[in-house]
Amino acid sequence: MKLVEAQTDDLCRIVDIVNEAYRGTGWTSEAELISGPRVDLQTLQEIAGGGSTTVFAAKDENIGLLGCVSLSPGDDSQWYLSMLAVNPAIQAGGTGKAIMAAAESYAREHGATAIKISVIQQRDSLIAWYERRGYRKTGAVLPFPYDDPSVGIPLRDDLALLTLTKPL
Ligand SMILES: CC(C)(COP(=O)(O)OP(=O)(O)OC[C@H]1O[C@@H](n2cnc3c(N)ncnc32)[C@H](O)[C@@H]1OP(=O)(O)O)[C@@H](O)C(=O)NCCC(=O)NCCS
Repeated sequence: MKLVEAQTDDLCRIVDIVNEAYRGTGWTSEAELISGPRVDLQTLQEIAGGGSTTVFAAKDENIGLLGCVSLSPGDDSQWYLSMLAVNPAIQAGGTGKAIMAAAESYAREHGATAIKISVIQQRDSLIAWYERRGYRKTGAVLPFPYDDPSVGIPLRDDLALLTLTKPL
């Protein structure tokens, strides 16, 4: 697996993988919490095409696109990691761990001293997965963006976002 900056040609497939992974059948799917797509092509093009966020594609020379992740530098050398996703067809085979390790290396090499992530507080198995990677809850609990239709359709009224961090 190699983690490279996503090219324009990768974005359609990345949209599919993100939506399948977050809202489909993977072992950490959030489909019971939120319905609808996690991202659409136009939004992903805007994220990848401007600003400071970099969208990365995880590629295998035989299989092709395995997954993705995005990184955004922060003001205080704490970078924000988001949109981590692995094609559900190959999940639980070590790809997610490999993407995280490569993303952390990239961030460290470019000046980050810590990574920050946000996770919906009800996603216990995903939070445990991050904790096994060295991430710790900061205690911060942010409101879920119920007024933002672009995140999908929330299926319960008690969603909230936990912040986790890991020093690099
Ligand atoms: C989270 C995600 C990236 C993990 O990628 P992955 O390739 O499935 O995970 P890996 O194979 O690298 O890691 C497997 C680990 O999870 C464990 N695991 C696998 N299946 C599991 C299951 N059904 N229940 C609990 N743990 C499981 C494995 O035992 C292994 O444990 P370890 O951490 O002790 O080694 C992937 O599941 C995904 O795309 N999820 C949907 C998108 C998402 O939620 N992104 C994060 C948003 S904040």
